[in-house]
Amino acid sequence: MNKPLENSTFVIFGATGNLARTKLLPSLYHLDMENQLPEGIKILGVGRRISDRQAWIEELENDLKGKVRGGLDKKLFKNFCEKLEFFNGGLRETANYQLLSEFLQQAQFSRNISFYFSLPPTLYGSVVTHLGKAGLLKEDQGWRRVVVEKPFGNNLESAIDLQRHFDKYLKETQIFRIDHYLGKETVQNVQVFRFANLLLEPLWNRNYIDHVQITHSETIGVGSRGSYYDEAGALRDMIQSHLLQLLSLVAMEPPVSMQAEDLRNEKVKLLRSISPIPKNAVSSYAFHAQYSSGIVNGEKVKGYIEEEGIPEDSVCETYAAVKLHIDNWRWRDVPFYLRTGKRLAEKRSMIAICFRQPPKQFFRTSQLEKFQPNWLLIGIQPDETLRMELTVKKPGLDMKTQTISLDTCLNEDTSKDAYEGLLLDVLEGDHTLFLRADEVLQSWKIVDPIIRYWDSQTDYIPTYAAGSWGPEESLRLFEKEGQAWRSSLNPEKNR
Ligand SMILES: NC(=O)c1ccc[n+]([C@@H]2O[C@H](COP(=O)([O-])OP(=O)(O)OC[C@H]3O[C@@H](n4cnc5c(N)ncnc54)[C@H](OP(=O)(O)O)[C@@H]3O)[C@@H](O)[C@H]2O)c1
Repeated sequence: MNKPLENSTFVIFGATGNLARTKLLPSLYHLDMENQLPEGIKILGVGRRISDRQAWIEELENDLKGKVRGGLDKKLFKNFCEKLEFFNGGLRETANYQLLSEFLQQAQFSRNISFYFSLPPTLYGSVVTHLGKAGLLKEDQGWRRVVVEKPFGNNLESAIDLQRHFDKYLKETQIFRIDHYLGKETVQNVQVFRFANLLLEPLWNRNYIDHVQITHSETIGVGSRGSYYDEAGALRDMIQSHLLQLLSLVAMEPPVSMQAEDLRNEKVKLLRSISPIPKNAVSSYAFHAQYSSGIVNGEKVKGYIEEEGIPEDSVCETYAAVKLHIDNWRWRDVPFYLRTGKRLAEKRSMIAICFRQPPKQFFRTSQLEKFQPNWLLIGIQPDETLRMELTVKKPGLDMKTQTISLDTCLNEDTSKDAYEGLLLDVLEGDHTLFLRADEVLQSWKIVDPIIRYWDSQTDYIPTYAAGSWGPEESLRLFEKEGQAWRSSLNPEKNR
């Protein structure tokens, strides 16, 4: 049995915002429902839009109704509300930190405190500085932790600058940089799959793997997050963080142990082995585009520049594809293709590993015919699945072949949100699934040449029709003729 958690106070900055309402508070409710929260925990919401605790609870009741497993239970909700407190105040005003500090002196609040930054990223540096100056990050009376959402910085330079603010008032062990992708069941399964099964290890290298594709596609557009998204774009929003994390889990060497630091050391080592993208050849390694109007799931949808909050001359990318090489013993010359986009044909996150062809093609009937290579597909969402494609003989008198697949669904119950486990990890002080400073900075370093090049291209961006699988031109990233993006789990449906 796990050790009972130490009592603590969980402060949510930005408790009135989208992330807190749709993810953090439902996850905390679920943890409470399952008796996973520490006895005596207080959850302190901080925001400006809502005036007091009562108003927060009323809004929360509405928010939780449609979201929690099994429907909102009156008794459980009442129990949960007993843990809630609210502090109204802006975080740009220095005086509010003194007031917050006094508020937290009340006996009901444990001196072990987590501060969750569910805030506009532009506030992170100043909030840390204010908390530090108000003495709220000192650990003399209990531990202090800061949980920070992505993006950590907007490019390499700003991430380094932000880290300086954090270094001034915090030790690395106090910081939890969240990437909620790492909390997903299947993402964690990549490690188990790789390191608990000897079967694949001999094949997991340049001798047998032709290339690896990592895709995150969405059918939704930018919605109401237009002004945030237009500053970020697909590369910063998805590739710098989530997709590079997936890549490092797929490609890293076995760690010394599954302890946080050993794991993070291996991920950083892998990221450091990625060959830098040459500044003068970015377009051979990266491709970007923006969605125009089209049809998604049978419905006509607007183009990106017609969306709310988007300037009509925006050249922000909603699609990004990048080719990376890992210059190490295991992976030299194996391309890793990363792709993400909004308003694509299907919502899907998938790792697709394409194996090399056998040295001799025995079973083909014509010179032109080629075997389908073996693929190993790891579906992350919506299907949490593992699929291995093999070539077998078609039943019948002729020696004809067909592709079959060995499949398994890894998780029938997808109702558990990644945030539930991650919040629990913060309360336990377990850093395994959180990013270390050097990891984040190295990820920015990898995409930095692309950011600089795309930022300089201010007058044109290619487009793709909403509802398609993105621009055909991105196929030029592939190194071998005939290779293409793997978009579906089903080989017949691909492209
Ligand atoms: N939403 C998601 O699904 C998602 C996913 C991944 C990462 N994130 C990250 O999570 C963070 C929050 O995102 P969000 O979508 O929740 O944004 P949001 O809906 O705009 O909420 C921002 C929150 O920040 C508060 N805030 C803003 N300025 C403030 C100030 N000066 N003083 C005090 N509070 C202030 C707002 O409170 P008031 O309105 O009460 O002032 C609001 O609660 C961002 O860093 C985002 O990148 C979000």
